[in-house]
Amino acid sequence: MMKYSVCVFIKLLIFVCFISRGLQNKIIYSIHGSIKEINLLNGEVSTLVSNLQSNIYSLDYDYKTGYVFFPRHNKDDILRFRYPSDTAYSTELVTSAREPIALVIDPLLNHVYWTEIYQQKIYRCNFDGTNKNLILQDDQLYAITLDYVNSWLYYSTKTNKIRRSRLNGADKHTLKELVDVTGLGIDANKKRLYWMEYQKGDLESSDLNGTNAIKVVSTNKTRTNIGIYVYGSKIYCSNGYQTLKVTVSPVTMAKVVHTDTETIHGVLFYDGKNILIGRKW
Ligand SMILES: *[C@@H]1O[C@H](CO)[C@@H](O)[C@H](O)[C@H]1NC(C)=O
Ligand SMILES: *[C@@H]1O[C@H](CO)[C@@H](O)[C@H](O)[C@H]1NC(C)=O
Repeated sequence: MMKYSVCVFIKLLIFVCFISRGLQNKIIYSIHGSIKEINLLNGEVSTLVSNLQSNIYSLDYDYKTGYVFFPRHNKDDILRFRYPSDTAYSTELVTSAREPIALVIDPLLNHVYWTEIYQQKIYRCNFDGTNKNLILQDDQLYAITLDYVNSWLYYSTKTNKIRRSRLNGADKHTLKELVDVTGLGIDANKKRLYWMEYQKGDLESSDLNGTNAIKVVSTNKTRTNIGIYVYGSKIYCSNGYQTLKVTVSPVTMAKVVHTDTETIHGVLFYDGKNILIGRKW
């Protein structure tokens, strides 16, 4: 009996340890010149990196290598930093880029893709900046996301289209027209594409081929919504000074999870759990 309860106790302890290490709930977001973090468990906000001297319209994270990637639109480069870190956060250069606006990482192939709005190009390089390649050229480009399960790259143009192509730029075609899209994200499980419609201020969604489009929710403000991060059936997005959490299942519901004193652009949700995949333990 004693042995049994000790055993149960130890199991419980291990369980609690795993849970407390696993269950992180953080939003990483960018304002002009800085990247911050909010701990949703206690509301604590801290600045991770500052003095970036640029607007940062997009953020992405690779759980395997533990890097946050972001484009510096006004400084013509792509940077990254290790996250989380016990010591001060410091950025390193990935590669130079001309006024990059948005990026997405491919966690399977260790690639970063980014859009250059005025050059009208999408480029790709390795996580360490090597092997930079032009993927495609189109109209002025804005948002970008990746369906790495089916190997499609999704992007938006300033001519109000959502388009997609293969990862090498081949086979590009239009999925949706008459939408001004500043943020794109994918729920690969439920096979839905999500985007921020800038003129109307709505979060919208369709099947991965552009059919069955719906308005999910209004952000209640127009022309301020940019960042989006799809995390299963939860979508985190930016809307002026606010970050919203939109739950799409079982019912659609939007709530403000944080209000900053400055305009928020990029948003990323970090749960700590994927650390289980390919990292220490
Ligand atoms: C688009 O995707 C939906 C859902 O997967 C599917 O039912 C439909 O047949 C597809 N349409 C086209 C034109 O491929
Ligand atoms: C938008 O406004 C409606 C009506 O006032 C409200 O019910 C909803 O919660 C608001 N949504 C957000 C994201 O603030």
